[in-house]
This record gives sequence, structure tokens and C-alpha cells, in this order.
Amino acid sequence: MSEDTNHEQATTDMTRRTFIKAAAFTTGAMAMTQPLWSQVAAGKDTIKIGMVGVGRQGKILLNYILQIPNVRVEAVCDIWSYSQRLGGGLVKRSNNPDVRVYGEYDEMLAAEKDLDAVIIATPDFLHEPMTNKALAAGLHVYCEKEMSNTLAAAASMVTAQRASGKLLQIGHQRRSNPYYQHAYRLMHNDKFCGDVTVVNGQWNQLKPLRPLPAKMIQRYSIPQDVLEKHGYGSMAEFYDWRWFNKFAGGPMTDLGSHQVDIFAWLLDTPPKSVMAFGNAHHAIAEAKANNVGFVPECFDHTLAYYEFDSPAFGPVSAFYQVVLTSSHGGFYEVFMGDSGSVRISEIREKSMMLKEKVADALAWEDQAEQVTQGGDTGYQFDPLKSRKQKGQTAEANPELAEMEEKLEKAKSKVHLLHLENFFAAIRGDEKLTCPADVGYETAVCVLKANESALTGKKIELTHDDFKVA
Ligand SMILES: NC(=O)c1ccc[n+]([C@@H]2O[C@H](COP(=O)([O-])OP(=O)(O)OC[C@H]3O[C@@H](n4cnc5c(N)ncnc54)[C@H](O)[C@@H]3O)[C@@H](O)[C@H]2O)c1
Repeated sequence: MSEDTNHEQATTDMTRRTFIKAAAFTTGAMAMTQPLWSQVAAGKDTIKIGMVGVGRQGKILLNYILQIPNVRVEAVCDIWSYSQRLGGGLVKRSNNPDVRVYGEYDEMLAAEKDLDAVIIATPDFLHEPMTNKALAAGLHVYCEKEMSNTLAAAASMVTAQRASGKLLQIGHQRRSNPYYQHAYRLMHNDKFCGDVTVVNGQWNQLKPLRPLPAKMIQRYSIPQDVLEKHGYGSMAEFYDWRWFNKFAGGPMTDLGSHQVDIFAWLLDTPPKSVMAFGNAHHAIAEAKANNVGFVPECFDHTLAYYEFDSPAFGPVSAFYQVVLTSSHGGFYEVFMGDSGSVRISEIREKSMMLKEKVADALAWEDQAEQVTQGGDTGYQFDPLKSRKQKGQTAEANPELAEMEEKLEKAKSKVHLLHLENFFAAIRGDEKLTCPADVGYETAVCVLKANESALTGKKIELTHDDFKVA
């Protein structure tokens, strides 16, 4: 069943949409005189959510959610008192003075009978149990990537979503980003690159291994029995969960999944093979030198080679590297073809388009704005500056004006548009950009790369490997 047809709200779309738009207008007018939380009147058209996990990413998501009209945070759940204080305080001050704060997820689900959705930003190994319980309770779910650290768990989330008929959005936020959507149009509609032959991408980030500060442990330590109940052996495991195989999938799932997801999306197909390499040698030495109290298990870098057979472009080779020991060059993805290439990144300044001299000019090229980066001169990669339509301005065309607003958000608030897409899908106004099946395909791409690096073997993949039966 598609996202559209299994959606409980489809029948009442028009009335809800009209009401919500009117409500949003009214609250905008009230903003001058009312405290912010009172704008989110708890009526039937307010989406009521529970926020689960207010760590580094949960805080970012929560801050965006608090900017979205007609979404009310009814409950915050986190096992850590530090995160509870942070999340509860943020919501109390700006969205809902009566927010309830929980330490136990099951207690929140049992007590909060009026929620529409939960947002899950806990460590990866918790995504499956938390998502499946929420879906079974009749809630929509926005779950951070990686869907899970095992394929069996990710598959069970797809099955649970289908059985529930509720929405499950996975946090690969580039799917809602108009710059990435623009890249798809450039490559597929305009054939700017011609036939793409090679893709490369990287995420280089310096992530030093340091012990959890003693002050934090003293002030906010979690009792050992609570840690163990939730699968953590110590505070170090709890805080540095990304370095353990039982909780995470290493940098390939953590960072690489965002970008390999883009490879498959823009090539219109999942890969047909992967061969990867990686190890944790540097991280292990660094952990020992700095006395962090554990031995890192997940890799500190991974290099992956994917082969694709793209229905649009033919055979494509893709090289990907993720490195936690240097920030050199940052992060981006490049699609190279026989007519041109497109470099894209969530960091706008890194994006540009290069045309091969031998390629024919496209209809809009005389209007495209130029840019020079690192000695290369090409076109600005921007839906409003590159692929300009003659005589069109944002002032004259409402569609362009709407695009301008989205591009502005995408420049600095990369998760906001993805959350907005989730809430719009709950209202029946949009389709999810990263539903469970798409999240699963990406989980296969990156978890198979890890498997290849661990076994030292190239893995052949078929389309069936990317589908949950
Ligand atoms: N989409 C993105 O760009 C992006 C970026 C960063 C992180 N993430 C994802 O977000 C998730 C969280 O990452 P993070 O960096 O915020 O980690 P984090 O360790 O900073 O935060 C995790 C939070 O979950 C809480 N928690 C742990 N176990 C819990 C339990 N059993 N019940 C309730 N709360 C629990 C912790 O106390 C903490 O507050 C991960 O899945 C990560 O992959 C996504």
C-alpha cells in the first residue's frame, strides 16, 4: 500500500488544510501580543507530539519544531536528567508550559493518550523498538537515521510501518532539500551532466576521542541499574555509543548514509555491488592515549567503492570516503558526466556546476550566473541563479517566491524542511520524502559496506536485497 492510500487523514484533507492555513494566519497576527506558546492552541488541528531523546541532534530538531506553527510538544522523554532539563526547559519556555517530562519511554506511551506523533533522536540501536512501539500505539513517527544498526531491525520497522498504516519518516534530510531536488532535475530533465559515469563523495571530520568530563559524570551520572536496563554497561558506553557495534554502525551509517542515499536517489537505482575497507586503528590508539576507558569497535574511517547500473545513465562507479581523523575538504557529493558535473553539499558554498567545453549549450545557459571556486569557473548551483527562465523574477512569480523561501531555510536550517515535510504529510498535504522503504534501501547500502569491510569481500547486490518482502 502506498503512503497516500494507507493514510488515515486522506479523506478529510481539504477541510483540515483550509482550517490549518486559516489558523496559521490568525496565530501570525497574534504574535505581537501573545507569548509564543499560546499561539499553539491545543485544538484538533494542532499536531501533538512526544520528543524522545534530547541529545545533540534532538536539541537541534526540537529547536526547529518549536518554530513550526500548530505543533505542540506534549511530552519530552529522555533517560538522562541533563537532557530532560534541557528539553523540558526549551519546551516550557516557548511552546507548552504544561509539557510532561519522562525518563521511561514505555511510561510516556502508556500515559500520553492524546499524541499524534513521536520524534525519535536516540542512539541507533533504539530506533527499532521505539519506532515499532509508537506505530503499534497508532502514532506517526519521525525517526532519525540510521534506521538501525542491523538490517533485521530496519526490516522490522518497514513491516511495522506497513501493518500500522501510519507514517514513518527517516531523518535523511537531504531528501527534503530543494538544492538536492534541483540536482535531480538538472541531471534527469536537463541532462546537464550528460551520462553520469563517476560519482564521488566524502565526509571528513575531525572527531577527537576524549573522556566524558568528570564534572558531567558527577553531576549527571545515571544509576548503574538504569544504564543496564537500557543496554549500556557504563556512562562511557552511554555517552560514546557511536564507537560500539551493539549501538551503532560507525561513520558509514553515521555520516556516509546521508551521502550514499543521495548517490542512489540521483542515479535512480540502488547499487549492484559494494567493496569497502576500514579499520579503527587510529581511534584505538587515541582512546588508549587519552584514557577514555573503552576500546573503540566501530571504524574511524571507511572507503567504499559502489557499482551502479543506472536506468538513466548506464554503468556508474562511485567512490566514497568517510574519515573521522581529519576535516580536510569537509563534505560534498560530485556527479561527473560526459557533458558536465555537479558538486552538491549541505554547505552551500561548496556547490557548483561545471560544463565540459565539448558539450552543447543548454537553453538557459546564457542567463546562468557564474562562480569561481578553487580555480574552477562554472555556474552557481542554485535553482534561482543557474537555471533561470527568461524574464522570470521571484517578485513576479509566486512559485519562485515560494522556492526562494525554501532555499533560504535550506541554507542554514537543513532539518527544518524535513520536519515540515513530516508534519505536512500528517496533514495530508504532502508525501513523505524519506518513507520507511527509502530509509531501508539506504540502510542496506551502508550496512553492506560495513559487512564488506569486515569480511574483506566484495558483495554483489540485487534489487530484491533492497526490498522488505
Ligand atoms: N540527521 C542528521 O543529520 C543527524 C545528525 C546527528 C545525529 N543524528 C542521529 O540522531 C540520533 C541521536 O544522535 P545524537 O548525536 O543526538 O546522540 P546523543 O548521544 O547526543 O543523544 C542521544 C540522546 O538520547 C538519550 N537516550 C539514550 N537512551 C535513551 C533511552 N533508552 N530512552 C530515552 N532517551 C535515551 C540520551 O540521554 C541523549 O540525550 C542518532 O540516531 C544519530 O544518528 C542525525
